[in-house]
Amino acid sequence: MSLRTFSSYIPESWNKIGPLKILNPTGMTLQFSIDALNLTIPKSKENEKIKILDVGAGIGVLSVYASKYYSNSEIFATDISTCMIDSLNYSIEGNKLKNVVAKVMDGQNMEELQSESFDYCFSMFGLIYFPDRLKSLKEMNRLLKSNNQSKVSIGSWQSDAFLPMALEKTYEKLTGKKLATKQPALSLDDKDLFKSELEKAGFVNVQIHSIGHPINIPVERISDYLKSENPVVDDFFKLIGDDELSINKFKETFITLVSELFPNNENGFHTVQWNCFIGIGEKL
Ligand SMILES: C[S@@+](CC[C@H](N)C(=O)[O-])C[C@H]1O[C@@H](n2cnc3c(N)ncnc32)[C@H](O)[C@@H]1O
Repeated sequence: MSLRTFSSYIPESWNKIGPLKILNPTGMTLQFSIDALNLTIPKSKENEKIKILDVGAGIGVLSVYASKYYSNSEIFATDISTCMIDSLNYSIEGNKLKNVVAKVMDGQNMEELQSESFDYCFSMFGLIYFPDRLKSLKEMNRLLKSNNQSKVSIGSWQSDAFLPMALEKTYEKLTGKKLATKQPALSLDDKDLFKSELEKAGFVNVQIHSIGHPINIPVERISDYLKSENPVVDDFFKLIGDDELSINKFKETFITLVSELFPNNENGFHTVQWNCFIGIGEKL
């Protein structure tokens, strides 16, 4: 199976999600984005005029939060999907954010951005879906200032992160087989590989932090996680045949599996665990 067979490696597939009209982008990546910002930007820099690059920014979960928390910062948010950038622009305009600019750009090729112009570069659960991660990491390295203080900060899912884990277990239960190739969502679930890719791109003093957050999902909302507009889910629909019967069987099996793994509590919630790595490297 080639990389290209996965929807989430195909840029156009991310357009199926949007456009969304959300003023304050939130969701389960927000808490991890706050963790990444806190781990990466020293307290002493909070009020400085730092320049932040957000690669694979999506609807702007990190960028919109950062624009308010680091109010003197300048933020440049990029994503390959027009829908995502349209959604982010809706939030920028609606909140009258003066310090965020959003632009459609391939994170593997950001040649229109000037070298050595950013203090911090983030890619929260974005880089993991780029077919050529090393190329993108080298671009991020080029774009960071050479002042012994600039840093890259990347979020990637661990193999037991709720949705990728449950999708994969559902596939195994239905087909009796293991996945032949790693799903993109888990492409950097190996701490050593993650560290070595950051080092290959030129980063030093690399640290991989392990972070987890539980999320409560109301029982009646579990099927919301199974929308084919989400390329991470579509990856599995395509693998099992992509016809209505197979998709319905997949959905039923997924819901049963989640109930077994995370039995609903007395308040009607499944408490599921999302675990990620945040890899941080310095540019000298
Ligand atoms: C799972 S979303 C993460 C969005 C956001 N960073 C967050 O934490 O919520 C992955 C994002 O990566 C973007 N993406 C995928 N391939 C890309 C590429 N080659 N260059 C830039 N962005 C890309 C998608 O369009 C999508 O918005």
